[in-house]
Amino acid sequence: MDATITEGTGTPQAPPHELIWEVAQAIVVSRCLHVVADLGVADHVGDAPVSAEHLAAACGADADALGRVLRLLAAHGIFEPATGGYRHTSSSALLRSDHPTSMRAFARLNGLPVFSATFGELGHSVRTGSPALEVVAAKGLWPYLQEHSEEAMVFEQAMTAKAHADVAGVLNAYDFERHRRIADVGGGHAHLIEAILAAHHGHTGVLFELPHVGNEVEPSSRLEVVAGDFFTDPLPSCDAYLLMNILHDWDDENASRILAAVAKSGEPGAAVLVIETVMPEGPEPHWAKPLDVVMLAVTGGRERTEAQYRSLLGDTGIDLVRTVPTATAFSIVEGRVR
Ligand SMILES: C[S@@+](CC[C@H](N)C(=O)[O-])C[C@H]1O[C@@H](n2cnc3c(N)ncnc32)[C@H](O)[C@@H]1O
Repeated sequence: MDATITEGTGTPQAPPHELIWEVAQAIVVSRCLHVVADLGVADHVGDAPVSAEHLAAACGADADALGRVLRLLAAHGIFEPATGGYRHTSSSALLRSDHPTSMRAFARLNGLPVFSATFGELGHSVRTGSPALEVVAAKGLWPYLQEHSEEAMVFEQAMTAKAHADVAGVLNAYDFERHRRIADVGGGHAHLIEAILAAHHGHTGVLFELPHVGNEVEPSSRLEVVAGDFFTDPLPSCDAYLLMNILHDWDDENASRILAAVAKSGEPGAAVLVIETVMPEGPEPHWAKPLDVVMLAVTGGRERTEAQYRSLLGDTGIDLVRTVPTATAFSIVEGRVR
């Protein structure tokens, strides 16, 4: 049997033993990326090739070890081998701290102690259905981050970093003009709401965030910052509510509580814009699938199909109106408060 093509997923695959090899070893490539991003190697690579010795000296690393790690990453298109060392590819350039759409923090994220320990405990999630993170940090992710400011800083930077492309995709895909006052619920460092306000000068926004995140964001004449907890504090009254990468952090019961809080604060007709990956029904590879397992392990949340969103929203008094795809893996599931 020729197993090189389409078995199971409908997409081309490696022969069976190579496929197992590839997937079993994928963690090695990921770890190399985390470590190189952590060390800040990319900041020392310029236009001309730089040797592993030079990079190791600049980053406090062992030259032979770093060279071997860079060789592996280069085989995946991250850094390019050149005479005399390595230079950037368009991907490795994103690991520079000063790149305007830097992904360095995102590349560091899963290497943080809390996350690498959590993925080490994935078996706990699969056996019990509960987040592996509870073995590592019993109180859960958000209280853990409140108590670990260095990891929290990388987490928040990573959210901003991963959002660079997604925010542009959301702005291109959806017309925010008709919503005059918009709340970004759990909006992190306000990257989405600030981008919307920059594009729509007559609009105002409210960032609603936990105090340790919200207090780091500077309010302005058009952006109000409300520090609070969406499970216990009332949300502001607005024409539209953004929930970007919020509902996927929570199981159905808690996601419903958040949606119910939105439905309570919004007037009938207020828009609820759930920005998430939407899980395809089919077997094809999709970014929602690894992200879903991350949510299983880290928060106890999940990625959802459109049908699951329809039912979740419907049960809390919000009608799903349409799902708008964007140029990235994210879609905008648009609901309206009844
Ligand atoms: C996955 S991040 C998403 C951040 C941002 N919306 C984005 O897409 O980049 C989830 C956010 O929810 C916030 N959050 C978690 N629990 C919260 C709560 N109980 N009340 C308000 N915000 C909360 C976190 O501080 C974090 O910024």
